[in-house]
Amino acid sequence: MKPNWRDKALYPILGGITILLIVYLAFDEPSFSFTFPVLWLPEMGFVGTNSTRFVVVEDGGGGGRAGRAQSAVYVNGWNSYWLMEESVWGGQSRARVAEMMRRGAGMGMTVCRTWAFSDGNGPNALQRSPGVFDERVFRGLDYVIVEARRNRVRVILSLVNNLNAFGGKAQYIRWAQEAGENVSSSADSFFSHPTIKEYYKAYIKAVVTRKNSMTGVRYYDEPAIFAWELMNEPRGESGSSAPLLQSWITEMAAYIKSLDQRHLVTIGVEGFYGLQTQEKNAVNPGEWASSLGTDFLNNSAIHDIDFASVHAYPDSCGWILTYVMGMTY
Ligand SMILES: *[C@@H]1O[C@H](CO)[C@@H](O)[C@H](O)[C@H]1NC(C)=O
Ligand SMILES: *[C@@H]1O[C@H](CO)[C@@H](O)[C@H](O)[C@H]1NC(C)=O
Ligand SMILES: *[C@@H]1O[C@H](CO)[C@@H](O)[C@H](O)[C@H]1NC(C)=O
Repeated sequence: MKPNWRDKALYPILGGITILLIVYLAFDEPSFSFTFPVLWLPEMGFVGTNSTRFVVVEDGGGGGRAGRAQSAVYVNGWNSYWLMEESVWGGQSRARVAEMMRRGAGMGMTVCRTWAFSDGNGPNALQRSPGVFDERVFRGLDYVIVEARRNRVRVILSLVNNLNAFGGKAQYIRWAQEAGENVSSSADSFFSHPTIKEYYKAYIKAVVTRKNSMTGVRYYDEPAIFAWELMNEPRGESGSSAPLLQSWITEMAAYIKSLDQRHLVTIGVEGFYGLQTQEKNAVNPGEWASSLGTDFLNNSAIHDIDFASVHAYPDSCGWILTYVMGMTY
């Protein structure tokens, strides 16, 4: 039999700790609104790389490169851009996010890619103007991460859009123009104008250092984050934008690493070969693809870029099917 004093002491102590946690988590945010804290989450390790494989690094340190025991991680999953927005609404919408994570995990999903951005005047914009955030929307993202972790799924968080949906680089350019900067509307302004680069860095910092309102865990300490993605499908104005894109990727990847050494960083490129790698242009989907300022090889070779990506649209691009079949048969 347990000694009597344990039964007497344990419950008040546990109760006291629980109340302190609730008070701490609930009143840490400036808005003082109540979020039910998450008191238990499964253990997870941070994902790193070892040569061409993804591995879970047991001690989590050193940017995933210097850890001790390693086990392989296989990526199986999909892109669900809508998770943050859906989580803002609560109720049935939130339940859909939880349900997708639960069912995905049941199907063997290990990684899900999603938007960690929404810039501008949209009803659920996360960044309403440079450096001004809607806490309500951030809490939606907190929820996405918690649901991923609960289901042992990891998320790739994309930080800005190339396209106009959810604001994108065009919104950053408009913000700079509205602030009176002499910024042309060229796509390349996003990748080169110092004010816009500062806006984007401030955004990166706010997200990477965000303290999850439900768990109290900073995003940079959250193992359910698989990687940061610089941009959804970056494209410059023309082939001559290549040096701008190359240095933008270098600068921004290094900036993330300066804030967070535990997570992988990727670009989010579609995977086209650029004008520098002429000999491979035949496998691009068309002439146009080499003239967007991205180059799969040069871009992916950047030191702080941990893994490469390719976006395939088999439904809308007959060429991919042709290409794949050409390879297979
Ligand atoms: C990387 O993987 C190889 C082969 O499995 C292993 O021998 C090596 O120890 C791993 N590297 C680290 C840093 O653990
Ligand atoms: C704005 O920038 C353009 C191109 O860089 C330059 O030609 C123009 O003189 C600038 N205008 C002002 C008002 O500084
Ligand atoms: C891309 O890589 C090639 C070959 O290494 C190099 O000659 C070229 O200058 C690079 N281009 C850029 C924009 O970095």
